[in-house]
Amino acid sequence: MAKPTQPKRIGILTAGGDSPGLNAAIRGVGKTCLGYYGMEIIGFRDGFRGLVENRRIKLDRTTLAGILTVGGTILGTSRDKPHRMVVDGRTRDMTETIVDNYDKWGLDCIVCLGGGGTQKNALRLHQAGLNVVTLPKTIDNDVAMTDATFGYATAMDIATETIDRLHSTAHSHHRIIVAEIMGHRAGWLTLGSGLAGGADVILIPEIPYDVEKIAEAIRRRSRNGTNFSIVAVAEGAMSRDDARALLAAEKKLERARTLHDKKEAKLELAALEVRHQGNTLRLARHLEELTHLESRVTILGYVQRGGTPSAADRILATRLGSACGDLIHEEHFGVMVAARGDGTEPVPLEKVAGKRKIVPPDHTWLQTARHVGTCLGD
Ligand code: F6P
Repeated sequence: MAKPTQPKRIGILTAGGDSPGLNAAIRGVGKTCLGYYGMEIIGFRDGFRGLVENRRIKLDRTTLAGILTVGGTILGTSRDKPHRMVVDGRTRDMTETIVDNYDKWGLDCIVCLGGGGTQKNALRLHQAGLNVVTLPKTIDNDVAMTDATFGYATAMDIATETIDRLHSTAHSHHRIIVAEIMGHRAGWLTLGSGLAGGADVILIPEIPYDVEKIAEAIRRRSRNGTNFSIVAVAEGAMSRDDARALLAAEKKLERARTLHDKKEAKLELAALEVRHQGNTLRLARHLEELTHLESRVTILGYVQRGGTPSAADRILATRLGSACGDLIHEEHFGVMVAARGDGTEPVPLEKVAGKRKIVPPDHTWLQTARHVGTCLGD
């Protein structure tokens, strides 16, 4: 009689910043692997750290029930990297410990849900010999080789609603309101919500801005009888001067050969980053001086990452999660499950890791924004 085969056992973790849709994805992976394919599934807490510290949670029908609509991640998350993790006060490479624990738990695959950083870390684990499958998650929508990431649609809805609400108060007070939107170094969230919310100015990292051009667009609106403006600014957007300084510092670091030069270039970069933190406030002040319109700032912050996922994100996360189950069943590892049109596609992690999807200069949304009279700061 043929020996019954052991059911596959998979681990799952969520890493990096949280985003709406993570639980929907965990449920998608979990229900497909557990219910459809009869596998076992173990959740590891707080990203890669849970895998190092053996902090886990058995995922069964009960734990997977009722989480589709819940924000955050039932597994918890962290920004810990396997190869550079602070343990007992020291930064250490914990890759070997992770490999040992993977074997100890008899895992056949580890599923990592995360953004750009997680894809890189997952590739490292794959190169260390583990079977890995990843899913693309982030409100920034900047993961390479996928049409979309889950979390983005919800964050875009939240930012759009905020821009809608800012319109009425900016209108009543004849003010400029500068709304800072997340997105790290990519402009997707600001461009999408700015377009959907009808922002008068949209500033994204991909297009360094000239503050004079923005002021002129606002003054033109005033001359035409509209005495208020909404400026949607990405947290990573910067003026042409700042962008030039950043590029020079990055090049300096690239070229640095000695320890001393490297240290100096790093300090320069850090100083620029600190200066950038006050960017939105500085921009609002500058626009007030140039236009003589009172200016206010709204920083949307973590509101964009919280709460229940939108219908679009629930569907995306569920279909990516279920496709992930299929790939594990087929033993197709070392890939990210990308969204491609209405379907999905496995993309080798090597093609994803270390790359960032930014808004291309010829993207149709940019042209659309210009056509409806939006100032892009250039
Ligand atoms: O990647 C998601 C994101 O929210 C970015 O938009 C933002 O720059 C970053 O995370 C904030 O990170 P943290 O949660 O570590 O403050």
